[in-house]
Amino acid sequence: MMDMVKAPLLKGQAPLLKGLLSYHGENNALFHMPGHKGDPHGILTSILGNVMKLDVTEVPGTDNLHYPEGILRESMDLLTRAMRSEESRYLVNGSTGGILAMVMGCFRPGDRVLVQRDCHQSVYNAIALSGIQPVFIDPGINEEFGIPTAIDTETVVKAMSSNPGLRGFILTSPSYFGVSPDLDGISDICRSNGMKLLVDEAHGSHFYFGEDLPVTAMDCGAAASVCSFHKTLPSLTQGSVINLGKGAQEEDKDRIRHYLRVFQTSSPSYVIMASLEAARLVMETEGYELLKCVKSMIDSLSESIRDIPGIRLLKEADLKGLRKDYTRLVLNTPITGNHLSEVLRRDYGIQAEMAAGNNIVFLGSCFDDEGMYHRLRDAIIDLDSKGMFSKSLSGRNNSGTSKLPSPVTMIPEREALFESWEVIAFEQAEGRVCAERITPYPPGVPVLMTGELVSRDAVEHLMRLEGSGANILKSRSGGRGTIAVISRNVENK
Ligand SMILES: Cc1ncc(COP(=O)(O)O)c(C=O)c1O
Repeated sequence: MMDMVKAPLLKGQAPLLKGLLSYHGENNALFHMPGHKGDPHGILTSILGNVMKLDVTEVPGTDNLHYPEGILRESMDLLTRAMRSEESRYLVNGSTGGILAMVMGCFRPGDRVLVQRDCHQSVYNAIALSGIQPVFIDPGINEEFGIPTAIDTETVVKAMSSNPGLRGFILTSPSYFGVSPDLDGISDICRSNGMKLLVDEAHGSHFYFGEDLPVTAMDCGAAASVCSFHKTLPSLTQGSVINLGKGAQEEDKDRIRHYLRVFQTSSPSYVIMASLEAARLVMETEGYELLKCVKSMIDSLSESIRDIPGIRLLKEADLKGLRKDYTRLVLNTPITGNHLSEVLRRDYGIQAEMAAGNNIVFLGSCFDDEGMYHRLRDAIIDLDSKGMFSKSLSGRNNSGTSKLPSPVTMIPEREALFESWEVIAFEQAEGRVCAERITPYPPGVPVLMTGELVSRDAVEHLMRLEGSGANILKSRSGGRGTIAVISRNVENK
């Protein structure tokens, strides 16, 4: 730990550094983002060397991210080839900035657009900023695991026939649980109906570099997509890319470039961009083999815990025709994912990516090493021998926290933020208008937005979520069992 930061620094006031070093010192098996996993084999370090020396700014010779003509242009041309897109660009504040830019660039205010209900909060931000009219469609629930599945083509066709004049579709592929829809089929429907398909591929960057993985947005002709390289590939946190595809018109691309200049800093980090180039390089040259290797480690883990009664690993066969990313491990047990996550961290030095209901999600990446999977296998076998999976602490509450309430906007968020508000108990909130964002994190999918009606479903959903120990971010009320609502009586139009 000391070798990472000079000792005198640790004596001073550096709580952030101390906290990071303390986490590092626990030497956990990292089943979470970022995908470089601390670079255990030194591959990134061998490419990037002393990154401080790469931390430069836009001077002659280093190009300009917003008007690339030199080394960034060249680097992003290589990225474009790797992503099989019409044009791919680096993003330095994660996929969030790319999602804002692609929605703003592709749609006009007032356009009616299909949106997957469980999309990430950045899509909700894009809806609020762009003024599009979302038509939400629900991906449905896999009852066995209690997780959202993916939108199927029938649902899209049905939504289109009851909502004529739709301009596009914003969907997520894959989900946090590694589930992907029939993107080819959905893309065909969109194309033949003049709808632009925008795909949040934040969790699917590695699909571009391996086999046996779900189809990518660029390969099926989407207008645009974003990939958080930092989540599943070896690049630094915040490093993402935006892909402009066959489905985008030249005018869309021009507006997307404009909004990338609006939403991204004018001082982009060259260290992040260099790490994106390094990730592309590693994946193009070794990604195929590295992904095969992680698949075999995951297969062997699955094999060794397969027969333990009471636990189940999500497989493609559980998903009725949908695709499943093999690098995302979803383990369903009789105890809550949050409780299992705490035990794994405390007693076995294993940190998972996320817990939801009775599921715990482990993020595999091509920078994993075998030791991590052995540690996880041994922990699960040990917990089983202690009867952890036979005694049910909570009862298997599979679908309770997955079905999201339907959003009803009473006041657009931008206006609602100027309203006076008060904090009350959930139980008293039914029929009031929410005055904050309420977002379980992860996965970062809002349950309620500022300006939305607090329905009975929403109240019950929030109570179940809090009961399950989920980490819920509330932008104003903060506390458990409470919610900020707009003080005045808002008439239902
Ligand atoms: C589905 C999904 N989309 C978009 C994002 C935003 O990505 P980023 O963190 O790269 O901004 C996330 C982040 O967790 C996500 O889970």
